[in-house]
Amino acid sequence: MEYLRVIGGNKLDGRLKIASAKNAVLPIIAGALLSEEDIVIKNCPALSDITAMMKIIRSTGGRAEYEGNHILINCKDSNPALIESDLTGKIRSSIFIMGPILARFKHAALSYPGGCEIGLRPIDLHIYGLKKLNVKIREENGHIICDGSDMKSAEIDLDFPSVGATENIMMAAVFLSGKTTIRNAAREPEIVDLANFLNALGGKIYGAGTDTLVVEGVKKLSGGEYTPVPDRIAGCTFLTACALTGGDVFLENLRSDTINAVTEKLVRTGCELSRGYDYVRIRSSGKIKAIHKIETQPYPGFPTDMQAPMTAMLTRANGCSVMVENLFENRYKYTVQLNKMGAKITVKDRIAVIKGVKKLHGTVVKSEDLRGGAALVIAALAAEGESIVTGVNHIDRGYYKIEEDFRRLGADIKRENSSQ
Ligand code: UD1
Repeated sequence: MEYLRVIGGNKLDGRLKIASAKNAVLPIIAGALLSEEDIVIKNCPALSDITAMMKIIRSTGGRAEYEGNHILINCKDSNPALIESDLTGKIRSSIFIMGPILARFKHAALSYPGGCEIGLRPIDLHIYGLKKLNVKIREENGHIICDGSDMKSAEIDLDFPSVGATENIMMAAVFLSGKTTIRNAAREPEIVDLANFLNALGGKIYGAGTDTLVVEGVKKLSGGEYTPVPDRIAGCTFLTACALTGGDVFLENLRSDTINAVTEKLVRTGCELSRGYDYVRIRSSGKIKAIHKIETQPYPGFPTDMQAPMTAMLTRANGCSVMVENLFENRYKYTVQLNKMGAKITVKDRIAVIKGVKKLHGTVVKSEDLRGGAALVIAALAAEGESIVTGVNHIDRGYYKIEEDFRRLGADIKRENSSQ
């Protein structure tokens, strides 16, 4: 079993280059199924979620492999009947392949998607959108069977701006004649990125980044090369870590316009930030001011994926902070672990009250989901003494060799294996 051994107390200092966003790369890999030509997706870290998605592409009979840090895909020989259900059951993002498979093959059969244990995460909005496109859907033995033989463009109003549903419907509609309109669409930078990718292959998608997205059907998509948007959540994770430990960190290839909701909070805690289009520098004394209230919201609001790292940062703030989680109902499990390190967090339903403490102390903590795991690493970096963070497999889903990046910034952190 792998774990991270962290000796806290070092200030973070140095430069890092942020890679392409996991949440952009995953739907883009799925979108590659829409083309029969070669696709190159650049600057992609070999995260376990990404390699799992590539495995799904290979299981359809397509090619998906790394060349350096680029992913090469060719789905000419894909045949969706071949998808193994135990693969799609592992990651929630496997739901994304439903849209492209329906668009290209008119039929899809998938098992229910897996993913982080952070709540119910239903897929009703995906199903609703596909049904609006005239897909006939039935459930059989834990499988979702979709018949898209008579798909039609449509006007779709989403009850909630779901990221995944917006992406899935967008891809499903790419080849439908006429215009498909998605209202109350999600506006995340990763949505814009998927639209840019599809447009680079010859798609006609307008309005991405606004709440009304229009997909005008095209006959086919070509191949091409694409560099996805940098990972704003990974970038913000390093920023909050530096805010807590103190130090001076410069992040290259981080689109500062995509992280306003987070940087605004960091400034309020007393950190000094300087930023350009594609970089952010943070300087922190390590003395954090509390934040009265943070509420997670769909983009451009405060991202739910930063809720846990930000809470970890606020554990040592000067005063009391309140976090409200509006997106997922089960995203505070990690707070129990932070309290083992001396934090004072009380959780009731979707609200966490974080009473700042003078210091955290190292101990053994267990990560149970991706961002909660990152929060534990952040706290360990600032805690007195040694921490052991287990459950690294969760962290590896979204951070590539997180210990190497933090070591580059001067942290005392290493990955070990209990069988060593
Ligand atoms: C994506 C991100 C995830 C992020 C989340 C919210 C990827 C691969 N993952 O997840 O990191 O935390 O956006 O920013 O991009 N919902 C429904 N019915 C549905 C779909 C969603 O009720 O059919 C609900 C979910 O339970 C949740 C909320 O809508 O409460 C947001 O989900 P959604 O935006 O779909 O998130 P994901 O696409 O799963």
